[in-house]
Amino acid sequence: MELPLLSFFLLCMFFAAPSCGTYYTPPSVPRLTDLVPNVSIDQYFAKIFGAANIQLMSNGSSLNLTLNKHSGAGLVSRSKYHYGFFSASIKLPSGFTSGVVVAFYLSNADVYTHSHDEIDIELLGHDNRKDWVIQTNMYANGSVKTGREEKFYLWFDPSVKYHDYTIIWNKYHTVFLVDNVPIRELRNSEAFYPSKPMSVFVTIWDGSEWATHGGKYPVDYRYAPYVASFEEMEINGSVSPPIATVPSSSKTNVSSPDTVEGPEFVKLSQQQIDAMDWARRKLMFYSYCKDTSRYKVLPPECK
Ligand SMILES: *[C@@H]1O[C@H](CO)[C@@H](O)[C@H](O)[C@H]1NC(C)=O
Ligand SMILES: *[C@@H]1O[C@H](CO)[C@@H](O)[C@H](O)[C@H]1NC(C)=O
Ligand SMILES: *[C@@H]1O[C@H](CO)[C@@H](O)[C@H](O)[C@H]1NC(C)=O
Ligand SMILES: *[C@@H]1O[C@H](CO)[C@@H](O)[C@H](O)[C@H]1NC(C)=O
Ligand SMILES: *[C@@H]1O[C@H](CO)[C@@H](O)[C@H](O)[C@H]1NC(C)=O
Ligand SMILES: *[C@@H]1O[C@H](CO)[C@@H](O)[C@H](O)[C@H]1NC(C)=O
Repeated sequence: MELPLLSFFLLCMFFAAPSCGTYYTPPSVPRLTDLVPNVSIDQYFAKIFGAANIQLMSNGSSLNLTLNKHSGAGLVSRSKYHYGFFSASIKLPSGFTSGVVVAFYLSNADVYTHSHDEIDIELLGHDNRKDWVIQTNMYANGSVKTGREEKFYLWFDPSVKYHDYTIIWNKYHTVFLVDNVPIRELRNSEAFYPSKPMSVFVTIWDGSEWATHGGKYPVDYRYAPYVASFEEMEINGSVSPPIATVPSSSKTNVSSPDTVEGPEFVKLSQQQIDAMDWARRKLMFYSYCKDTSRYKVLPPECK
């Protein structure tokens, strides 16, 4: 028996972990993804790498990204956004996926090399045959020395069907959602908040060095190709003018108003807060705010 599989069985004998195929029914929540229309992936995104591993389908409304031994693949939005609602329905590769990373994220690292912002959803292949982990992370204004990762198991098998992975980012808060269930909220505060326009990235790549148990299980190309499928991409954001043309005096005031300003986007309801508590209680297994071996002094927002 291969080692990863053996450890999977051993783990499952001793813990009734969600990672052993114990799936949960999530609390009911408002379907925010129904409020935002989907966009043409073809029209909204350009290829950035692995063009041979990018397949647009259904007239550009759905997408397959492939990781094989030659390359991963990735797209970047043609516009930059200052705040907005960003969502993708994703079906992840099934089978043995350790080391594989499928990412849906916002970043401006290409423009601000030393003071970039980033809001990440990273789906990490795991060390057993069906499990995936969702990792969320954020950087603001170059805060790369402080990783703010949180990791969760999913309450479903993400390789069977499409599920929605969503980022709401506005001047009130940033929220990560899975199938409309909020799993993490960061309120805007002076100390730490991504505030400059960002592009949207959709990628699949080889994260052998860190993705699965800190790199213990690399990608095994005997199980390639790894194909992630995307549909119902939703973007409704304030399109930012090209950064080079923004006069430096108005850098803090680049944006038009939020496009998604309704009450359902600016504040979580009690029902959503309860759902988020459920997700964090049952499925979160790592938070930087609890990692006292990494941070002798926890970042200020952790109190
Ligand atoms: C929106 O999604 C539906 C269903 O997947 C698809 O038929 C339609 O073409 C999509 N619209 C756009 C603009 O991509
Ligand atoms: C294909 O997509 C383009 C761009 O979204 C749209 O204008 C066109 O109507 C679509 N064609 C069909 C047959 O759906
Ligand atoms: C971002 O960092 C730069 C220095 O790298 C600093 O001058 C600037 O004030 C910071 N901006 C914000 C919004 O914190
Ligand atoms: C896209 O990927 C799915 C697996 O998620 C596969 O079933 C389908 O055949 C692929 N489509 C194309 C056109 O390769
Ligand atoms: C920001 O924009 C608003 C409206 O466009 C304007 O009234 C305000 O003076 C601007 N603030 C700064 C600091 O430029
Ligand atoms: C963005 O959302 C606003 C309000 O929610 C809506 O009026 C607008 O049509 C949306 N735009 C796009 C491109 O989806």
